[in-house]
Amino acid sequence: MQSFVLYNPTKIIFGTDTVKEIGPETAALGRKILLVFGKSSIKRNGIYEQVVASLAGAGLEIIDHGGVVSNPHLSHVRAGIDKARKNAVQAIVAVGGGSVIDSAKAISAGALVDHDVWQFFKGKKSIRKTLPLTCVLTLAAAGSEMNGGMVLTNEETRQKFGVGNRLLCPKVSILDPTLTFTVPPDYTAFGAVDAIAHILEFYFTTRDQSTPVQDRFMEGLVLTIMESCDRVLRDPLDYQGRADLMWSATLALNGWTAAGLGMVGFPMHMIEHSLSALYNIAHGAGLSIVMPAWMRCQARLRPAKFIQFGQRVFALSGNDEACAMEGIKRLEDWFISVKSPTTLSQAGIAAEDIPVIAENALALAKIWRLNEYNKDIIMEILAACC
Ligand code: NZQ
Ligand code: ZN
Repeated sequence: MQSFVLYNPTKIIFGTDTVKEIGPETAALGRKILLVFGKSSIKRNGIYEQVVASLAGAGLEIIDHGGVVSNPHLSHVRAGIDKARKNAVQAIVAVGGGSVIDSAKAISAGALVDHDVWQFFKGKKSIRKTLPLTCVLTLAAAGSEMNGGMVLTNEETRQKFGVGNRLLCPKVSILDPTLTFTVPPDYTAFGAVDAIAHILEFYFTTRDQSTPVQDRFMEGLVLTIMESCDRVLRDPLDYQGRADLMWSATLALNGWTAAGLGMVGFPMHMIEHSLSALYNIAHGAGLSIVMPAWMRCQARLRPAKFIQFGQRVFALSGNDEACAMEGIKRLEDWFISVKSPTTLSQAGIAAEDIPVIAENALALAKIWRLNEYNKDIIMEILAACC
């Protein structure tokens, strides 16, 4: 285990009937707020009315900024920054999944600087201050509700970059599992895949050989995510299943799993962000394509952790590379069982596109300092996704 500092400033209010807290919690941060949300789901399922009632009930003035799309667009964030400035909002409320929360984070940082917000994502400018942000989570997946990360798509350059800063952490996030009852099966599964990927990025990229506390925490989260996702796909109104999935997805990327692992990377995400940027596929769907291929390439180089994964997560008895490969296949079989794609062709992506995808991913590899990934290595991994 390595030395570490663990700091997470986000207050989590978890459970049924908690949306009514968003008004009082936000009123402590400002009187005029920008309300950021997606295309239509919260208007269809009644969450919008609940949130507005709580905000208005707390005496807040609300400026709507709806229309966030999946793989959220830079242009929509720029429009939100303009709105935030023109109305001199004092706080931002995000109601949705990772795309909405990330857009709100980008607005919270971009509204307070005179340069373009994309400069943060290119690593050209650092975040020094943000407007306070509160969230109501409606989809268990990205973990953005309790971390300092944000991911945005520059639809002009067709790049999807992510940046992290603890100032982006929401002040308060409301996690009511009943709000996810209306999440369709595909995004339920994509969210579970995303959360598993967050865990395995750290689990497999740490170079520390002795991390038993984190390993069992992460292995347990992976098992719980698979079990609770299966429950919810059987019964979308299964509260316990939705609650376990929601809390596991938040824990998967709030700093706790990575504490003590030392240097870790996000290589599977580095490649997947290009699939989302270039083909606008769901983030989790891109990850279920990339993950098995990346894992097989890595297992040949460093089999030990993959053998442990197969033994602990899938109760395999072997102790060799065959066990490592069988564990990867079991995970891939689970992706197939929840109908998340596992090949580029299933997502309609042609093998001929691999050089363009690899070139696109290389730009993010450089920003994220994933120096062991050159174009050939990325192409090799993508070739194994066909
Ligand atoms: O737009 P609406 O109409 O609201 O529909 C959304 C959207 O179409 C729908 N949805 C959300 N809550 C719902 C619902 N439908 C019915 N009932 C509900 N309760 O679900 C669709 C997908 O929403 P989205 O926010 O895009 O999904 P997710 O939460 O998976 O977020 C994905 C984004 O998060 C980023 C990804 O890159 C991607 O852009 N990530 C953010 C991270 C972070 N900030 O730490 C890390 C992650 O690795 C990830 O990169
Ligand atoms: Zn992710």
